[in-house]
Amino acid sequence: MNVLGLSFYYHDSSAALVRDGVLVAAAEEERFSRVKHDSGFPALAIDFVLRTAGLTIADVDFVVFYEKPFVKFERMLLTAMSTFPRSAAVFRESMQRWVTDKLWIKSRLTRELGIPGAKLLFADHHVSHAASSFFTSPFEEAAILTIDGAGEWTTSTLGVGRGTKLEILKEIRFPHSLGLLYSAFTAYCGFEVNEGEYKLMGMHPYGVPRHVDKIKQLIEIAPDGSLWHDMRYFSYHFSPDRTLNAEFERHFGRPARDPKLGDKTLDPFYCDIAASIQQVTEEVVLTMARHLHELTGLKQLCMAGGVALNSVANYKVLRQGPFTDLYILPAPGDDGGSVGAAYWAYNHLLGQPRGPALDHAYLGSSYSDDEIRAFLEQHAIAYEHIADDERFYDFAARALVDGQVCGWFRGRFEFGPRALGARSIIADPRRAEMKDKLNATIKFREAFRPFAPSVLEERADEFFEIPEAARHFPARFMLYVTPVRVEKRSVLPAITHEDGSGRLQTVFKDTNPAYHGLIRRFGELTGVPVIMNTSFNLKGEPIVESPAHAFNTFSLSGMDLLFLNNFVVRAPAKKKIAETVFHLRHEGDTVTAMVS
Ligand SMILES: [Fe+2]
Repeated sequence: MNVLGLSFYYHDSSAALVRDGVLVAAAEEERFSRVKHDSGFPALAIDFVLRTAGLTIADVDFVVFYEKPFVKFERMLLTAMSTFPRSAAVFRESMQRWVTDKLWIKSRLTRELGIPGAKLLFADHHVSHAASSFFTSPFEEAAILTIDGAGEWTTSTLGVGRGTKLEILKEIRFPHSLGLLYSAFTAYCGFEVNEGEYKLMGMHPYGVPRHVDKIKQLIEIAPDGSLWHDMRYFSYHFSPDRTLNAEFERHFGRPARDPKLGDKTLDPFYCDIAASIQQVTEEVVLTMARHLHELTGLKQLCMAGGVALNSVANYKVLRQGPFTDLYILPAPGDDGGSVGAAYWAYNHLLGQPRGPALDHAYLGSSYSDDEIRAFLEQHAIAYEHIADDERFYDFAARALVDGQVCGWFRGRFEFGPRALGARSIIADPRRAEMKDKLNATIKFREAFRPFAPSVLEERADEFFEIPEAARHFPARFMLYVTPVRVEKRSVLPAITHEDGSGRLQTVFKDTNPAYHGLIRRFGELTGVPVIMNTSFNLKGEPIVESPAHAFNTFSLSGMDLLFLNNFVVRAPAKKKIAETVFHLRHEGDTVTAMVS
């Protein structure tokens, strides 16, 4: 049985294909369209997942959308009405966008895909989140916690999964929302909402949580973790572009105007705010987790929703909460909604047996040696090819030891926001200067933000506080920030954050043998089986998908070497080439994607 899950029209559009319980392919539209956070109809991602599965749309048994558009519209409408006339702007904008487009998802899907309406199903937004984490987890039974900005009405759920069934036990409803609270502080500190949350999290170790009580004057946290917001301070319920209002500014003071709060000019006041909202977030998530444990008595926890990207809070849940094992899929945000929608239909609705746990994120496209060689020759790019894998790992590891910054493009790209050794830029974490080099010549991002380490799973606990590393699925996906062991902090200056922490990725031989081979060789040469890993993209661009994107990113940056599978391209070969892009061709009622 083939089920196509879809998520679009909100944040990151994506498509996912589940065949007989196995997640065969999943990808965000942005990787193909090259539009960052593309929220449009994911025609290219749909084409990709179908091609990967060797299917046409006629072979698909069900298409499942990750939320219920009419229920969400009802929330928009009722909220706008209750806050009128302040909501006039959001009302006008919502009506324009919803009535012309978003409401008619069913007719759009039947028209674009040429499928009958009977094949189309709609999941609830938070049920999609819950399903995305539980049905991809290794747990037969688990408590499930979902937290985000907002779905239809729901902003957080406590639930339980048993076998092929999900049950939502409790929920919090809009406008009371931990995700939206965090976003309000993201905006207050001068960052873009839905983009800058990572920056706020990265800034928190520079501050002291001295404003926690002040934040708590805006909200109430009940013993079961449910939240109540004093809406006099917020404006996200009536404004299309403002999350906080003048009352909020009177309470906390002037918001940061400069989005480049960067490095040496970090303002201590906003660092304290970041530390304070981080502490409040952790308190709410932990309170919810404890209550969920009381309700279910279970020791396993699955998490999803945008707040599950807060890898600092996730690790606190593991260490301070009542659960012994956590699972979070690599795309816990709305991009993972497509996966959840498909599994909800397959397991919960249709009662089909569970598939294998998702223990890797390599669900995107890949390029063969023949394709890469053809690409390099077509563009007359000088290259070397090291056919023997061990010799190649040795070559790459020695380049890192020599201080070279390298593009690493190999295998299927990662589903979710993190690069995990398929589309990564890599460097030597023992060199303190690497952080500045990457920021100044490649990433062009705020210097206070930390870079992440990739470590061999079998040696992770030597360097990070993560005993029995193999058990901890979130660490495979960079969803835990753990302390770097005190004695290793000076060994790993480029990836150790201000507070001595690191957002590690554990690397497994069975799921990414080449990346594992590279890090193993680096470890043999240096005694440190850890490398520095950041996503393969320029600032503001989606992570690269194809050899052409990778080569142009390499050419436009200060990288020293580019590895495409076992092909090596050196810096003198840099130039700008035309990118092979997907073009859509509309034919009657169907959309076909073709490569130009
Ligand atoms: Fe969501």
